[in-house]
Amino acid sequence: MVLMESRMGATDKTFRHDPVMVQEILAVLALKAGDVVVDGTLGLGGHTLRFIDAVRPGGTVVGFDWDSSMLEIARARIGTQSDVKVHLVHKDFREMSDVLAELSLRPNGILLDLGLNSAQIDDPVRGISFREEGPLDMRMDRTRGEPASAVLNRIAPGDLEWALKEYADERWARAIAKQVVARRKEQPLRTTQDLVDCVHAAIPVGAREKRIHPATRTFQAVRIMVNGELNGLAEAVEAAARALAAGGSLAILSYHSGEDRIVKDVFKSLQDEEFEIVTKKPQTPTEVEIRENSRSRSAKLRVIRKK
Ligand SMILES: C[S@@+](CC[C@H](N)C(=O)[O-])C[C@H]1O[C@@H](n2cnc3c(N)ncnc32)[C@H](O)[C@@H]1O
Repeated sequence: MVLMESRMGATDKTFRHDPVMVQEILAVLALKAGDVVVDGTLGLGGHTLRFIDAVRPGGTVVGFDWDSSMLEIARARIGTQSDVKVHLVHKDFREMSDVLAELSLRPNGILLDLGLNSAQIDDPVRGISFREEGPLDMRMDRTRGEPASAVLNRIAPGDLEWALKEYADERWARAIAKQVVARRKEQPLRTTQDLVDCVHAAIPVGAREKRIHPATRTFQAVRIMVNGELNGLAEAVEAAARALAAGGSLAILSYHSGEDRIVKDVFKSLQDEEFEIVTKKPQTPTEVEIRENSRSRSAKLRVIRKK
């Protein structure tokens, strides 16, 4: 666990992660002492730490993360809690129903804070960021699946073009896919810089957006594809809603249109006798929060309640 040790010893900045829209989420979940709450996306435990305080004493908190290094950081931050039961689970939140059934728990509140956090993005070993050179991996759970390099070295150009459009609204999808194919004919893609070079070769300088790095959309799309982040999301959202106790709420924070569309459609399909949509329109962070935490800028919060 060299990586973990270097993180644990790193400056406090590594741990600075302001939980996004935490006030709005606490208000809408309205947790009280003794409640059961599930954080499906533990990350650094920012929301979970607040949930622990909200259900104290006598409450139960279950946190999931599919990334074992995040789970260990969260575990260290949470520490020992004497008057709240805390279960930290190294699993995909898409397996939430089974875990809750095993624990015989019906949550009063569930949060999914989708995507990944800055500690994951900034770690060059993971190959998620285009800012530093690293192996082109991008997997959240490196014990499973294929690294991004393997996927990009074999994917059909049409499928890559589709993913770039679908997962990141990339206008230059076809040109980028063409560059990837041309480059891998010369030699296989290995590092994050190899992919950045393909993007630079595909997008003319004059056409690049000023606001964001030209590789931002490509890296987002490839990451979503490699981790299958949207596969089974609809089913997972529905299963989470159905797992709630009567009167319980499911809050979901999403950060791009592909995710938000899925959440919105599932909520609509559930809106019947049993569920009511609390957020007719998604809630967004205040200007103050966006100024203080730029990661929150694209957040959309949708909430559904079991009657
Ligand atoms: C945006 S961060 C959560 C940050 C957290 N709310 C906090 O305040 O510290 C998302 C986390 O969810 C995890 N994650 C994303 N998709 C997941 C999935 N399908 N199952 C389990 N964990 C997932 C990521 O590894 C990451 O640690």
